[in-house]
Amino acid sequence: MQVVKSGQKPIDLTVCDYFHNPVGYSIDHLSMSWKLPAVRNGIRQTAYQIVAAHNKDSLDTNPIWDSGKVISDMSINVPYGGKPLLSRERVYWKVRYWDEHGKISGWSDINFFEAGLLSNSDWHGKWILSSDPRIKQINRNTERTKTSKRSADYVPPAYFRKEVKVENSVVSARLYVACRGVFQFYINGEKVGKDFWGTGWTDYNKRIQTNTYDITTLVSSGENTFAAVIGDGWYSGNFGWKPGSRGLYGDRPELLAQIEIVFKDGTRKTISTDDTWKYSYGPIIYSDIYDGEKYDARREMPNWNKNGFDDSKWKNPKSKNVEAIPLLEPRRNQPIVVKDVLLPISVRKISDGTYIFDLGQNMTGRPRIKIPSDEGRKITVRYGEMLNKDGTLYTENYRSAECIDTYVSAGKFGFDEWEPMFTFRGFRYVELSGLQRNSKPTSEWVRGVVLYNDIPLTGSFVCSNPKVNILQNNIQWTQRSNFFSVPMDCPQRDERLGWAADAQIYCSTATFNMNVKAFFAKWLIDLSDTINFEGAVGHMAPIIDNNYGSAGWSDAMVVATWDIYMAYGDKNILSQNYNAMKSWVDYMKKESKDLIRPDTGFGDWLQPNSRQTNGNKYSPMSDAPNSLIGTAYFVRCADLLSKSAEILGYVGDAKKYAGLADDVRKAFRAKFISSDGVVVGDCQTSYLLPLAFDIVPKAQRVKIFDNLIKAINRDGGMLNTGIIGTQFLNPILTEFGRPDLAYKILLNEVQPSWLHAVNMGATTLWERWDGFNPKEGFGTTAMNSFNHPVYGSIGKWLYKYVAGIWYDESVAGYKNIMFAPTIGGGLTFAASNYETPYGTATSSWKMHEGIVEWKVIIPPNATGTLKFPTKNRKSICINGNLVDDSKLLLDNDIFVMRNVESGTYEIQVKSFGFSQE
Ligand code: BGC
Repeated sequence: MQVVKSGQKPIDLTVCDYFHNPVGYSIDHLSMSWKLPAVRNGIRQTAYQIVAAHNKDSLDTNPIWDSGKVISDMSINVPYGGKPLLSRERVYWKVRYWDEHGKISGWSDINFFEAGLLSNSDWHGKWILSSDPRIKQINRNTERTKTSKRSADYVPPAYFRKEVKVENSVVSARLYVACRGVFQFYINGEKVGKDFWGTGWTDYNKRIQTNTYDITTLVSSGENTFAAVIGDGWYSGNFGWKPGSRGLYGDRPELLAQIEIVFKDGTRKTISTDDTWKYSYGPIIYSDIYDGEKYDARREMPNWNKNGFDDSKWKNPKSKNVEAIPLLEPRRNQPIVVKDVLLPISVRKISDGTYIFDLGQNMTGRPRIKIPSDEGRKITVRYGEMLNKDGTLYTENYRSAECIDTYVSAGKFGFDEWEPMFTFRGFRYVELSGLQRNSKPTSEWVRGVVLYNDIPLTGSFVCSNPKVNILQNNIQWTQRSNFFSVPMDCPQRDERLGWAADAQIYCSTATFNMNVKAFFAKWLIDLSDTINFEGAVGHMAPIIDNNYGSAGWSDAMVVATWDIYMAYGDKNILSQNYNAMKSWVDYMKKESKDLIRPDTGFGDWLQPNSRQTNGNKYSPMSDAPNSLIGTAYFVRCADLLSKSAEILGYVGDAKKYAGLADDVRKAFRAKFISSDGVVVGDCQTSYLLPLAFDIVPKAQRVKIFDNLIKAINRDGGMLNTGIIGTQFLNPILTEFGRPDLAYKILLNEVQPSWLHAVNMGATTLWERWDGFNPKEGFGTTAMNSFNHPVYGSIGKWLYKYVAGIWYDESVAGYKNIMFAPTIGGGLTFAASNYETPYGTATSSWKMHEGIVEWKVIIPPNATGTLKFPTKNRKSICINGNLVDDSKLLLDNDIFVMRNVESGTYEIQVKSFGFSQE
């Protein structure tokens, strides 16, 4: 916990989706958050005051907004009350609070936020693009692609430049960029910004995010060269597993840039892309997300992005006007940056000139190679997540994504250093071939450059079982690998798509590991952009095909929105997506027959031992019928929509959708549940869904739960769930009194289980329970990712039930924190720290000779509800004192203490009598 020794001013000021001093991020819903310092137990806010001004110096004398003293305990997502910002406007702000004794704090440090270009009409330049026909340079696809006949023509990334004289002395300068594709921008030879992958992936036909850079230190009076390289990326590269998936949005990438300079005398200069810029091709021959990059160092153009370069042979680009659509919007999520650089743990020779480097960790990004070479030598770089038995790369699971980079040396240096620019993939192993025969590679020759959106880590979990700790580490690495502009299903094969079920199922775990508020806020807009003319939501976002309405997938529109609201407590996420949520629920009603959803969709995807093999061992239909899964989600979505309506004050809708949820509940029960509690499908997922979504009355729950246990016993005491059912298995077992079985399932090491993969040396989560085993080798190549987040839904169980930290559903955003560890599974300790919007929460327990020592930290301005893991009320001691009986409530057989004020608590309980211990 962060302790401020002197002063008690607010700390960690952020704006909107927890951005520190943002320049050019979305300000659609401008709000402010801060934290109180944890200087003493019980510290809380009773009032606050925010002032905002155009200058730091005028905050006290000439503010543009002064909230005055507002009696409120709100310290997160407080709406900005000044006038809506104009494009480019910069505002400074500070805040102070009144504490629980009415004492006023010092003012916080001064922070700021700055608007980007808010409207398409702010862009004065033109889109620029290369004007040559697409070049059929490569035609090598037939051999490698067993499943696809994707066209393999590439247009090389174009290099643009423009030299401009700046005649005055520069006070400040900004660069605004939008890109159809991906870009790297340079000013006077220096790369602008630490980010890669441009403005990220959106439905480019509807909206394009824009980046804003403060380039004040890069521009000076005199000559300046503005330059950029642009690549296909998601816009015009190969994308999607279907044949002919090149150029989803356009034929080639396009760039729109605007440089705005403010001079000392108050005048301004704007430099924009237009057809007076010049372009050429350079050393990058092609660069494709799936297929890789080819770079020929012999074609380098030294100093192409600096002043004085002779571009007389370069061409003028084609240009296009900026239209009203797509919307050009300041970006909503953090950009993709280099988050880590991995060193190989071993280097092994495969044959003369061919070596495999093991990074020791499955990851997403690109390599950095440093090799001795000679002119014209072609180095081929291949990748794998796994190795074949003979030690060669296992590449079959990349399917039609070629994932090969090629580097041709100019032989100019002792060592050539290179990393590809516009391609990425998931890999652990890097193979270099084509090296000099006598070369002696060392681990210095390869690095793994880890890339993902710059989202801060917020949660940790550790316990006494080392294999569970590896699982937790694998969950976090899988999130690192797949939060790449959109929540991807996997980072390696010809998908890397924002499949919506994967995102919604993993969402809660994701909120614990990292602060994903902005990341999901952006993706939920992508998802709402998929809505078709009938009101249906796509099953992935951005959508690349024509499929809508899959149960569990499209429901992400409601479920993930709700999960993000719960985790971060910001109503804006509900209001922003409310119409889309409503559209989805209304569509379900329209599409259903007697409120039962149709039997379509993916079912309980990848259930391991389904009876409905349908002739396909690898991707069977699940035992739980699709219509049952769909109807269960219909209840859930109608419920959540009703709750959202209530929170937003839409009284009529709240009532209407609560009524609809009840009607669908009844229809579900009538259609799928027999009087003895047998649910159609008679499998784990069939029983889990009505329990998880509160579809059955209390009396019936016991029977259904008994039938769930029977189903588990029939399955040998193991899980038999696909991605839909798995997320509920351990939580429901725990909630309904069988944490012992939940632990057993977690700790099972036989396939299907999480720890099977751990035993196989996994460093990320697998897509399939049967991804690999020594007896049968690899699972089907048709679908066998070794870096797939969705089964990471178990992470939520580890945090919420094992360590015992969760939000209180009645007060979103961890304003009140539920602390409820579940002792069991032979664990002797478990601990979690979680950075809530109010500060760090901790739950850490140790078990010793029947005594549980439990440390709880409740962050400032929040409260806690403590659920003691004991049935013996006389054994509860807090900070050395026996607890006063009157402070305890008995809730479902558990002793609970509510409204515990912020602070640190050392608790001791005897776990005597605790169920299943
Ligand atoms: C993806 C899944 C996804 C699914 C749809 C797969 O290929 O990797 O995780 O949800 O397709 O069924």
